[in-house]
Amino acid sequence: MDAPRSDNRDNWDDRVAGHIEGYRVDHYINEPAHMSDIVMFDKERLGDIAGLDVLHLQCHIGTDTLTLARLGANVTGVDFAPSAIATADDMFARTNTPGRFVLSELYDSPQALQGQFDIVYTGVGAINWLPDIGGWAGVVDHFVKPGGRLFMTEGHPVAWALDQDREDRLLVLGFPYFEGRMQTWNEERSYLGDATLTYTTSHEWNHGLGEIFTALLERGFEIRLFEEHRVLPWQMHSWMEVGKDGWFRFPHEIADQVPLMYTLVAQKPSQ
Ligand SMILES: C[S@@+](CC[C@H](N)C(=O)[O-])C[C@H]1O[C@@H](n2cnc3c(N)ncnc32)[C@H](O)[C@@H]1O
Repeated sequence: MDAPRSDNRDNWDDRVAGHIEGYRVDHYINEPAHMSDIVMFDKERLGDIAGLDVLHLQCHIGTDTLTLARLGANVTGVDFAPSAIATADDMFARTNTPGRFVLSELYDSPQALQGQFDIVYTGVGAINWLPDIGGWAGVVDHFVKPGGRLFMTEGHPVAWALDQDREDRLLVLGFPYFEGRMQTWNEERSYLGDATLTYTTSHEWNHGLGEIFTALLERGFEIRLFEEHRVLPWQMHSWMEVGKDGWFRFPHEIADQVPLMYTLVAQKPSQ
């Protein structure tokens, strides 16, 4: 693994202790019907996943994976942070939920995990930690069965390109839209939880919509759904408003100016 991804692994491993509280893992353990907001947002577009084999890439501590399992899927999660995988394993054991977790770096996961899946699922805040969207599409292609699909809801690259520190409520571009230029952060806190981090350095890459679509189209995928959303599950700008649904959005006057997330479904043709 190269130095930026090694930094990211240490950083993400370090975030887990605070995220166990931040993501309210206790709710998932104590309440058998508790579901993650993100997967519930996806539920209608996902359709009925009961009995389907679902691979969750960059599954983090498994709260979304558990929700997919509670919707009836046979789940497998992959992540490169040992504490995240240990937390997911523990949560599944304590809730008697069938599922398996594999510790692997994303680009190495075809060597770490056998088999193909009806759905490869990836959630919000995942591909921005990956340097190469073409290589990511290769991993997705490797794991999707013929006739199966990629399902992703992700932060929008236009939103990632905005300067998030503007307090004057202006939407100003401050970061790359296209892939290629790595952004490095040094932050003592994660977006959730109160824990102070030891491994404070992380690196991100944006990926333009054209780059994402092209990477999938070049692999033979067919785009089945693409929707842009006006909400986010975290407060990207300090002046975003939170709705009754718990999701963050820009104030009403500018809510139509910039997309904050998108959902993309891409299907691999049947052989
Ligand atoms: C923001 S979290 C995903 C959160 C997920 N949407 C959820 O709500 O549970 C990003 C995850 O990507 C993982 N990750 C980042 N880079 C990775 C890589 N190169 N290989 C595997 N996992 C990676 C991190 O360990 C972390 O668990």
